[in-house]
Amino acid sequence: MTSSPVFAFEPHASPVPASERDAALLDPGFGQVFTDHMAVIRYSRERGWHEPAVRARAPLTMDPASAVLHYAQEIFEGLKAYRLADGGVALFRADANARRFRGSARRLAMPELPEELFLESCRALVRTDADWIPSGPDGALYLRPFAIASEVFLGVKPSADYLYMVIASSVGAYWKKGAAPAISIWVSQTYTRAAGGGTGEAKCGGNYAASLAAQAEAMRQGCEQVVFLDAVERRWVEELGGMNIFFVFDDGSLLTPPLTGTILPGITRDSLIALARGRGLVVREEPYAFDQWRSDAASGRLREVFACGTAAVVTPVGTVKSGGGDFEIGGGGPGQTTQALRAALVDLQRGAAPDPHGWLERLT
Ligand code: PLP
Ligand code: COI
Repeated sequence: MTSSPVFAFEPHASPVPASERDAALLDPGFGQVFTDHMAVIRYSRERGWHEPAVRARAPLTMDPASAVLHYAQEIFEGLKAYRLADGGVALFRADANARRFRGSARRLAMPELPEELFLESCRALVRTDADWIPSGPDGALYLRPFAIASEVFLGVKPSADYLYMVIASSVGAYWKKGAAPAISIWVSQTYTRAAGGGTGEAKCGGNYAASLAAQAEAMRQGCEQVVFLDAVERRWVEELGGMNIFFVFDDGSLLTPPLTGTILPGITRDSLIALARGRGLVVREEPYAFDQWRSDAASGRLREVFACGTAAVVTPVGTVKSGGGDFEIGGGGPGQTTQALRAALVDLQRGAAPDPHGWLERLT
């Protein structure tokens, strides 16, 4: 396939009427409202990636022996298209998602989708369904590219056939409470997420399936998210169920756990490190122990904690709960550094601030 792939376009025969769509966009929540179309590319060993198309979003028909249904050979991405201050539409760092998708494919023994095909599939879908971007301050079009093993075979081996798709969801804030100033998180001492040599740094569905019991435990404790500790010593902070984590200290410096193969290399994490350093802040990528966290919170050395990710953006953490007791961070509300970094990121993503890194790709 050439470097500028052409997607066949088959428009939806009966798209959602504009009045119904606009009503759904008033308060879309997260991951519940879907657009009219989807992008699809097939892969077979003989033909490679072929038949790229944007067509009506519709249910899939699958053979019950399709490999993904049994051995979870599946990877995905999450990125957003934003409505800019001037009315245009842009993707944020989609090239980084395309690269990470290739890395996930390698780890799951799947063929790597060329980055240009990934990018063009996202661009084509956003251009087609741009009217589905909600206009509220948190509104965005959340893109979910994913690939599944579609070979019909029950032997355990990498599939010969795959289906890559992109669906799009009109989203507002990730958190149901919306107005809550900060989330509570539960440090699991029962479950771990990933070990060295495993799939921790890949974005594969299996990681999330394995995290759900821990997330359910967190929810039973009244928390929004689970925090995982490392699988070897059960001591070092890793990440949340669906977000990376940052700590802000009294000297103004920040710390976030390093990328050692067991956590997802978040694109929001990477962006915030660059934005913080650009403001002259010191950011360390270093291991941080849970007992240190507790004592730094008690001494006042630790001032702020926040979670970050495409879905969560930048979310302050107010309360930390665990089997060993609970503690608050900085009085339980959002801190100054957290709010400043969130504003810097959101302004850039919406074209309301300069983009010195060239992170935005304008589509319209
Ligand atoms: N960690 C996990 C486990 C995630 O699911 C996500 C969300 O994608 C992140 C971190 C943050 O990654 P990103 O900033 O690329 O969305
Ligand atoms: C994302 O932020 O894109 C994720 O995949 C995380 C999930 C909590 C929706």
